[in-house]
Amino acid sequence: MNQYKTAHLTLKNLGETAKFGLLLGKLARPGDVICLDGDLGAGKTTLTQSIAKGLGVAAEPPVTSPSFAIFQEYQGRIPLYHFDLYRLHGPDDVLALGLEEYFSLAGCAVIEWSGRAEDILPENHLRLELRVAAGEARDVFCRYHEEGWAARWRSLTQELSIFE
Ligand SMILES: Nc1ncnc2c1ncn2[C@@H]1O[C@H](COP(=O)(O)OP(=O)(O)OP(=O)(O)O)[C@@H](O)[C@H]1O
Ligand SMILES: [Mg+2]
Repeated sequence: MNQYKTAHLTLKNLGETAKFGLLLGKLARPGDVICLDGDLGAGKTTLTQSIAKGLGVAAEPPVTSPSFAIFQEYQGRIPLYHFDLYRLHGPDDVLALGLEEYFSLAGCAVIEWSGRAEDILPENHLRLELRVAAGEARDVFCRYHEEGWAARWRSLTQELSIFE
């Protein structure tokens, strides 16, 4: 049985990305894993910054992707574990660094370039693939674990007017 559902939405501009991320951060729970994929500059870090805000992470220091940081933890209502796996080659690198333990701790993991960890991600995750459309518009292809996310996805779509 397929335990995943898919959805598509368009974020028309930065404001919609901010709104979407904020709501996502507000409904995040301990142990959540949110995977962000898409090309360089698609908006993964930008979306992570709004998720951080929704998690109650302080505005300073800002959530960024510094050149050599693969992992950064921030304190909020629950911790944010922010990963940028771009520089890793695959799951073996993630395991070698012991990073996978953060996928099941009390915070919310947000993983940029989650494809690098594909085989070792927990089943219960939300995956968002961002694609640049025209200008500030971003297409978002979503796949979520039904048991873990369907109810929350419904409330998210009810609160936002940006879903098709
Ligand atoms: N609707 C939008 N959502 C997100 N970012 C947007 C949007 N419109 C414009 N942008 C801009 O696109 C850029 C996205 O950069 P960002 O660093 O978030 O990308 P990224 O996916 O994290 O890239 P990388 O793979 O290099 O980490 C930013 O300059 C941001 O301001
Ligand atoms: Mg980034």
